[in-house]
Amino acid sequence: MPELLRILLVGDVVGEPGLQRLAEELPRLTQQYATDFVIVNGENVYDGKGIRHSDAETIFRAGANVITSGNHIWEKWQSKDVLANNRNVLRPLNYPRGNVGLGFVTNGLPTGHSITVINLQGRTFLPSIDCPFHAADWVLEKLRHTTGAVIVDFHAEATAEKMALAAYLDGRVSAVVGTHTHVQTNDARILPNGTAFLTDVGMTGAYDSVIGMKKEVAIKRFMLQTPHKFEMATGDTRLAAVYLEIDPITMHAVNIEQSLTPPLVRERRVT
Ligand SMILES: [Fe+2]
Ligand SMILES: [Fe+2]
Repeated sequence: MPELLRILLVGDVVGEPGLQRLAEELPRLTQQYATDFVIVNGENVYDGKGIRHSDAETIFRAGANVITSGNHIWEKWQSKDVLANNRNVLRPLNYPRGNVGLGFVTNGLPTGHSITVINLQGRTFLPSIDCPFHAADWVLEKLRHTTGAVIVDFHAEATAEKMALAAYLDGRVSAVVGTHTHVQTNDARILPNGTAFLTDVGMTGAYDSVIGMKKEVAIKRFMLQTPHKFEMATGDTRLAAVYLEIDPITMHAVNIEQSLTPPLVRERRVT
């Protein structure tokens, strides 16, 4: 078997607490896994929504090669400038034509192989943008490299939509990894035709929270059914990631491991 490609994908980095944990943890993780390539979802890095140049710089300095995103990338005007000026910062490919930024990118590795990252977004409980299935077909048709890896960050709410896209692309891409829900699912596996799949990689941010935001505000929003300004939570930060090993000749996955650093405490707390 040829030398495997080692790829790490980190889930939604939320605000300054998430960014700090990423800056501390990612250099250690990339060493531990001896990664060839690192992808980080940065849709929530600027105070919960969007990304600034300084945020992108911090993420790249921590070890990322490509930054992916999702629905929240559009909610700060600064994000558009980042998307316009950096081919390695992606937004979902299947937003209507005319929007700024790229939805996929191919980078060459020193080994001569190439890694393509494709960012797609689901349409269930999210804006009704173009079809992610057809967008995937379109981009796979365009790809020219025949060795390396093709990694899909599928930013979607519904587990069924994520499983359906992974099944649709099974054997045609190296991995489909879900983002957006901020909760890591326990289903990392390799599908029958060689595509690694995880429904959601989870969140890099504060876990004493409701998906990264202060609990009190989230509770109010659900109970009162009116808008209340989100505030970033700060306690108990963790990094959520998935580690992939890809055979560059077949471009299929041979290993997938999900991780949360540090892991959640599952035993009863003694006070
Ligand atoms: Fe997110
Ligand atoms: Fe999202």
